[in-house]
Amino acid sequence: MVHMLEIGRLTVRFGGVTALDAVGLVAGQGELVGLIGPNGAGKSTLFDCVTRRRDPDDGVVRVGGQDVLTLAPHLVAGCGIARTFQQPTVFPRLSVRENVMTGAHRFGAAGFWRAAFAWDWERRLRERADDVLDMFGLLDVGDHPAAGLPFGVLKRVEIARAVAAEPRLLLLDEPAGGLSPEEALSLMALVRALHRTTGMTVIVVEHHMEFVLGLCERIVCLDLGHKIADGPTYVVRRDPAVIAACLGAR
Ligand SMILES: Nc1ncnc2c1ncn2[C@@H]1O[C@H](COP(=O)(O)OP(=O)(O)O)[C@@H](O)[C@H]1O
Ligand SMILES: [Mg+2]
Repeated sequence: MVHMLEIGRLTVRFGGVTALDAVGLVAGQGELVGLIGPNGAGKSTLFDCVTRRRDPDDGVVRVGGQDVLTLAPHLVAGCGIARTFQQPTVFPRLSVRENVMTGAHRFGAAGFWRAAFAWDWERRLRERADDVLDMFGLLDVGDHPAAGLPFGVLKRVEIARAVAAEPRLLLLDEPAGGLSPEEALSLMALVRALHRTTGMTVIVVEHHMEFVLGLCERIVCLDLGHKIADGPTYVVRRDPAVIAACLGAR
């Protein structure tokens, strides 16, 4: 299997806290992996390192064979990595469609030709955005400003924007966080369909256990910066260490 994501010995320290302690994680092309662990386990910090929001103290991160840690942070999207955040980070005054169009901007050619064909470029961005809005059931609110829309809709807008970039690697940080059970279930079906149709590699950080165990065939569990489990969902969900850390009460 071709490795889309290779993380080795990833270590991040915040003062006395070791947020990640020599964590390794490999995801194959087209894999859908769940990343679980209690609060403070280091899940978001791991995403921060892959997207160059944070430089690790040690370790390697490769995406599609490319060493990400030597890339300038603004080149990460061009490398085919897209990410969503726990709290939606949409532009409130832009419409839903415009928010999604910002995700597709990396496809715009720069310079003279883009200026000369700006109208066509804009039209193509809009068409691409509308395809994604349709997939996410957001066409009806396409012209609505993001401000004032319900939280569950904003979470979908945030994911739609990431998908519009057509990444090779999509990192979803708690996509079901704050959603009602029905919203979480419909989002789960959406992520599953998205993964099937695009074949992109997806890593999902999620607290909502039903969501992540139902969605992913493979689960990686972090606890206090250590990887404590990595394997097929049916094995990991029965692992006593995982149950103690995530599934049961502590
Ligand atoms: N900017 C920061 N400054 C100091 N400590 C941080 C910072 N970000 C995260 N941490 C600490 O690193 C650890 C891992 O955090 P995080 O990656 O957010 O965990 P998770 O996403 O699994 O809940 C926690 O102990 C957290 O308090
Ligand atoms: Mg987090």
